[in-house]
Amino acid sequence: MAVTAPADGLALATRGLRKSYGSRLALDGLDLTVPTGIVYGFLGPNGAGKTTTMRLLAGLIHPDGGTIQLLGSPFGRRDRHRLFDVGALIESPSFYPFLSGRQNLRELAATGAPVPIRRVDELLELVGLNGRDDDKVSGYSLGMKQRLGIAAALLSDPKLLLLDEPANGLDPAGIVAMRDMLRNLASTGKTVFVSSHLLGEVQQMVDMVGIIAAGRLVKEGTIDSLLAGEGLVRARVMPDQVPAAVEALSTLVERARIDTPADEPGWLVVQIAADRAADVSRTLATASIYVAGLESGNDLESLFLALTRTARTDGGEGSIGSRAAAPKTGPNWPAGGAPR
Ligand SMILES: Nc1ncnc2c1ncn2[C@@H]1O[C@H](COP(=O)(O)OP(=O)(O)O)[C@@H](O)[C@H]1O
Ligand SMILES: [Mg+2]
Repeated sequence: MAVTAPADGLALATRGLRKSYGSRLALDGLDLTVPTGIVYGFLGPNGAGKTTTMRLLAGLIHPDGGTIQLLGSPFGRRDRHRLFDVGALIESPSFYPFLSGRQNLRELAATGAPVPIRRVDELLELVGLNGRDDDKVSGYSLGMKQRLGIAAALLSDPKLLLLDEPANGLDPAGIVAMRDMLRNLASTGKTVFVSSHLLGEVQQMVDMVGIIAAGRLVKEGTIDSLLAGEGLVRARVMPDQVPAAVEALSTLVERARIDTPADEPGWLVVQIAADRAADVSRTLATASIYVAGLESGNDLESLFLALTRTARTDGGEGSIGSRAAAPKTGPNWPAGGAPR
């Protein structure tokens, strides 16, 4: 497989990135393209390969294949020294519980490359820990530890910030505070690469998203382009007609784009432009299958679920019925566009 070099002007790019743990394939040729100075949401369900990607980007583990480009030049095994320009918060940060937040940052500052002492104060303020900075970390909430972790990742004033699920465990107010903080960082020219398994958590803070499932990129672009290019049509038929309906619809779209949620007997979810509901209905009628219900929309959350679910099923891992979350049904679906 030819691995093409990504264009310049990017904070981060991977091409054909592969990683296995023993016989378990975690990344299956991942291509990411992250422009400089934006907040990029790296989205995917649990087990999709997000943390593996983050650990590769931070040089904590090495890829089996493929290339990484960080801040404009290739990043290989011998390039860990360049990570001074990259700040990372991956998995739960560990701090000395018996020291205060401020003391922990000072310890870190003393062990890494030199940073001005007032930087610690600036960072405590930036992450909203001023006032609690002299309390022991053992008394911090999860959200406060998370914010201290972000402060630690920012110590060396990196150009690129890698944050693995930083919103985990934050309450809604904490998520809003983090959103403002990350937006501020991007407005100063830094690039923020932030992962989440929940689209709603990061939707309002990101300029662009990359969606992965089963170690592969399934979509990359702005939220607007995502909504413009894709839609979902849901059709309900008699449950015993579902196999024939799938057969008929596969003349319209690839089979991987047709889902039959196990917990909603009789429903078919088709990834197709939302304004093509009539085509779905007509195709089924041609096969003598008459729809009892038809809905269309491009609600982002449903789209996210559909995109990640189909990638998992054709990836051979898990089945449609084994997914953790079901698409939204009932009066909330379709939302007719997500709240912005
Ligand atoms: N240290 C490890 N040893 C074996 N398998 C692992 C290890 N870390 C992750 N995996 C597997 O790799 C896949 C991707 O995991 P991960 O990168 O943690 O996904 P995510 O962060 O998106 O939840 C999963 O199938 C997971 O079980
Ligand atoms: Mg993870």
